[in-house]
Parts: sequence; C-alpha cells; structure tokens
Amino acid sequence: MERTGAGWSRAAEPTGRWRSLLDRALNGRSGEQALLDDDRLDPRAPLPERFEPDPRPPARWQSAPVAAADGDDWAAGVLRANLGGPRVLAFANPKGGVHKTTATVLAAATAGSVRGRGVLAWDDNELRGTLGLRAGSARHARTIRHLLHDLMEIEATDGYELRDRLDDYLRHAADGSYDVLAGEEDSRFAQKLDPHIVRRVLELLCRTHDVVCVDTGNNVESPNWRTVIQSADQLVVTTVPREDAAFTADWMLDLLEEAGLGRMVKNAVTLLSCPTPGKSALLDDLAAHFANRTRAVVVVPYDPQLESGSNIEYGMLSPATKRAWLRATAVMLEPFAR
Ligand SMILES: Nc1ncnc2c1ncn2[C@@H]1O[C@H](COP(=O)(O)OP(=O)(O)OP(=O)(O)O)[C@@H](O)[C@H]1O
Ligand SMILES: [Mg+2]
Repeated sequence: MERTGAGWSRAAEPTGRWRSLLDRALNGRSGEQALLDDDRLDPRAPLPERFEPDPRPPARWQSAPVAAADGDDWAAGVLRANLGGPRVLAFANPKGGVHKTTATVLAAATAGSVRGRGVLAWDDNELRGTLGLRAGSARHARTIRHLLHDLMEIEATDGYELRDRLDDYLRHAADGSYDVLAGEEDSRFAQKLDPHIVRRVLELLCRTHDVVCVDTGNNVESPNWRTVIQSADQLVVTTVPREDAAFTADWMLDLLEEAGLGRMVKNAVTLLSCPTPGKSALLDDLAAHFANRTRAVVVVPYDPQLESGSNIEYGMLSPATKRAWLRATAVMLEPFAR
C-alpha cells in the first residue's frame, strides 16, 4: 500500500521499497520468505477445515457507533445467535500499540455481556502480554504455562469436570461475562508454543467456550502466530488511523495472501480504533482502502476510560463506546450466526 494523491491504494509492486524496509524493521529478513519457508503455510496446502468462506461480496464500510435502535437490536440478535460451533477470532497487526489487546478484551466483553457465558479472551502475546493484567480478576497467577503443564490431564476430562478443571487456569471478568487465559511473562516460554501445542490449546478452549478471542501479539515469524491465524474462523485486522499502523496491517494482509490465505483476508474485518477524541484526517481514506481489501470495516471510538492502559472495565465505558462495540462485535460474528 502506498500513499498517493488519490488516497490509499495497493502498491503496484509488492516487493517494493516499503516492503523491504518493513521486512527489515520487523523481522530482520524477508517476512514474506519467512512465511513461505514454513510448509504449514504452503500456498498449495488446503485451508484449515474450520474456515468457512463467506460467499457474499465485501460489505460496505460500516461505521460504528450506530444511532438507530434497530441497529442495536440486529447486533444483539447476532451476538445471541447459535454460531454453529465454537468460533475463534484472531486480532492481528504486528505493529505495537494499535489497540490489539484492548480490542480482544472489548470484543470478548461485548460478546460475553450479551451471551452471558462461554466467551474467552486469550492473551497469546509471546512477550509480556498485558491482557491478564488489564482484564479479569487476579484470583490466582496461573497462565498458559500452568495450563500446558497439566494439559494432557485436563484434555482427558469431559463435561462439567472439564469446565471445572480448566477454570482453575482462567481468570474472570469482574462481572463474570467472560474468562481470560493469561499469557506468560517469561519470554523463554514462547518456544513451547509450537503449532501442535497451540492447536491443542485452541481445541481445548473450543470444547468449553463458544467464542474465543485471541490477542495474537506482534511476532509474525513465530509458529504460534501463524498457527493461530491459520486456525482462526475470523481474522480481525486491528489498527489505529495512522499511516505506520495501517501500512503494517496492509503488509500483513499481503503476506497472508501470498501464503495462500487470500480467502481469510477477503473475509477479514478491519477494526479502526480511534486513539484520540477528534476525528483523524486519515480515517475516511483508510476506511475506504480496507473496505476494498476486507469484508467490512468498523470504526470504534476513543474512550477516556481506555486511555490509561490500566484495567479495562466494560461497565465503565461510555454508552457510545459500548454501542460501537456491540455493532463491531456483531459484524465480526455475523457470518456464523444462524
Ligand atoms: N479506544 C481507545 N481510546 C483511548 N485509548 C485507547 C483506546 N484503545 C486503546 N487505547 C490506548 O492505547 C494503548 C495501546 O493499546 P493496546 O495495548 O491495546 O495496543 P496493542 O496493539 O495490544 O499493543 P502491543 O502490540 O504493544 O501489545 C492502551 O494502553 C490504551 O492506553
Ligand atoms: Mg498488546
């Protein structure tokens, strides 16, 4: 993607100067090559079985908040619906500070507040994720590391016992509307999250939860990141209306397309999250750009409650923010609602 006089458009030359600069900045080598080096992202490989392409054409830009009450009713109806099985939403953009963690928590909080149960946010950051600190009670300090330690034992259980056992490793939102699986602070642990383990964790979470929101962190090179993206039912491209953040999001979409995940890119939802109260001059341009690349674009507002970066209390958000998130989360889950 490059900035032109006419607005944002795809770069004509995908291996151009910007790509090389970003590759070096983010990975120290060609990110494209790194993805293709991995046979799990072989472009010839079939898409993950759970991925169901949406046959509809991309939706128009859907701006939240919505004013009309019937929009709220539609959104609540989608969030209450049978989703046809557990759904994994992956929140991704390798750029730091683009509201991934906040978005993961707020999507889970919104879905959980309507569905009442069965919603989980997983902090899959490999380096000092903050989701566990910003959401969920600190009733214990257990993280993904403790869950992996006992994984086989927990996998062997079923029904209530499974829920009960898994619950020992989760934290709960203050109002009980969603659960949190915290990430591990020790960066050496990241190596343990190989594709096989990550798939087992997702499968386990999907046995007990209907909606699993994953904060994918920043490392597109890691097998963990790639496995979550490949396993996701819905990709949520999370960005703020800034050139560098949007450029990195666009670059990530290029990589995924080149790795054979074009349908996932087309079915992605782009979340434009506003970091300031005023409207960014880039907002409309970026919304139009991502509406051409992804299924839908939703805009969620700045909220002073979120700015401090501390504990995210869904109940303290302004009615306009809650309404925007209701709409945004419904757009993410709409393809699955029956
Ligand atoms: N809607 C919002 N309104 C105001 N401030 C916000 C909003 N969303 C997020 N923020 C602020 O932006 C900061 C960065 O957001 P967040 O931690 O979610 O980004 P991230 O993409 O997860 O970053 P990293 O990649 O470093 O983990 C938050 O700490 C918070 O202060
Ligand atoms: Mg984060």
